Amino acid sequence: MRFPLLLVVTCLLGTTLTLDNGLMRTPPMGWLAWERFRCDIDCKDDPQNCISENLFRDMADRLSEDGWRELGYVYVNIDDCWSSMNRDEHGRLQADPMRFPGGIKKLAGYMHDRGLKLGIYGDMGTHTCGGYPGTPLDKIEIDAETFAEWEVDMFKYDGCYSNATEKEKGYPLMSKALNATGRQIGYSCSWPAYQGGLPPKVNYAMLGEICNLWRNYVDIQDSWGSVLAIVDWFFGNQDVLIPAAGPGRWNDPDMLIVGDFGLSLDQSRSQMALWAIMAAPLFMSNDLRTISSSARNILQNKMVIIINQDPLGIQGRRILQEKSKIEVFWRPLSNNNSALVFFSRRTDMPYRYQTSLGKLNYTMGSYRITDAFTYKTLTLKDTTNFVVSVNPTGVVMWSERVIMRKRIQVQEGHD
Ligand code: GLA
Repeated sequence: MRFPLLLVVTCLLGTTLTLDNGLMRTPPMGWLAWERFRCDIDCKDDPQNCISENLFRDMADRLSEDGWRELGYVYVNIDDCWSSMNRDEHGRLQADPMRFPGGIKKLAGYMHDRGLKLGIYGDMGTHTCGGYPGTPLDKIEIDAETFAEWEVDMFKYDGCYSNATEKEKGYPLMSKALNATGRQIGYSCSWPAYQGGLPPKVNYAMLGEICNLWRNYVDIQDSWGSVLAIVDWFFGNQDVLIPAAGPGRWNDPDMLIVGDFGLSLDQSRSQMALWAIMAAPLFMSNDLRTISSSARNILQNKMVIIINQDPLGIQGRRILQEKSKIEVFWRPLSNNNSALVFFSRRTDMPYRYQTSLGKLNYTMGSYRITDAFTYKTLTLKDTTNFVVSVNPTGVVMWSERVIMRKRIQVQEGHD
């Protein structure tokens, strides 16, 4: 008797705790205010850049008119500093009345009218990291209901001003509360970033059940050093992180800063390519009103986006770190395709890296290669030696399609 009862209880727990919103089967894409616009609330002296409904409407206009939306960039996400310092008379969060006079629901409508989605930000503690009202345990239900009532599509739950015990209760509780609203709301959890990002403190299997994506590590800043530190951490811990990711659950190395001030063109390509290899969410934090066409071309690169959005959703890995400071990354894609990135940590001059697909563990056969940034194609056998020239701090990115495998393998049934 006891066993079936236990089973029923486990199943019930399973259904209530799992975030079954069916969202984000591929990494979410869009725009997020934080890295570029921070907590600029000075609408008097800096009306173009302050956190206000105008900023989000401007970005929505750009996303829908400049070809971004069609490529998948559909989320327009508010971050910190959007709210009033006080809850309303019913205890609900409310937007700052001066900066968001129309309110969040109207802003969500603006997004939906354009085929876009609106994301919003909250914090599991007493306050947000920027000092605005938080969503501690006793406010979780009411805030989830408020976001649903406003027709918000995504929620980032930050972790300032709460302890580990509160987080352990709060993040699953919010998942449940969002589910209970009946509205599909993508759920981004900052929880692991506050626990050091690694087991045993972080339980990735559980996170995958309750969140759609999660920040694992420190905030990105507008510099190449910051991008490199993130790359080092994510690929240094790839054996822990790769199994955590899959359709509906993604590691989030933080925003794309392509189009801002800190990266050269080569470094911008590197961030885009490595984020695609990582199956990372692609949230740009830049000014889409003034972005250069070269940065735009990188962010709108169809081939890199297709790689990022591959339906298998397998996060890629670093497969080689050469003494020459060339590193090779690989991601398996659907239909037996794959992507390769050759990345240079050198600071001298373009490096001519010589290798073969065989040396990179490709099975015997012929492969059709397309360079993701030049769109040049070539055909290579696994045994063919080739040279790629990789710029300092830059990448060469390839996508590979198998065109023929040696017959012996087909007979063995490896095809
Ligand atoms: C934390 C988060 C950032 C951003 C800020 C806002 O630092 O990690 O992404 O949301 O808070 O204050």
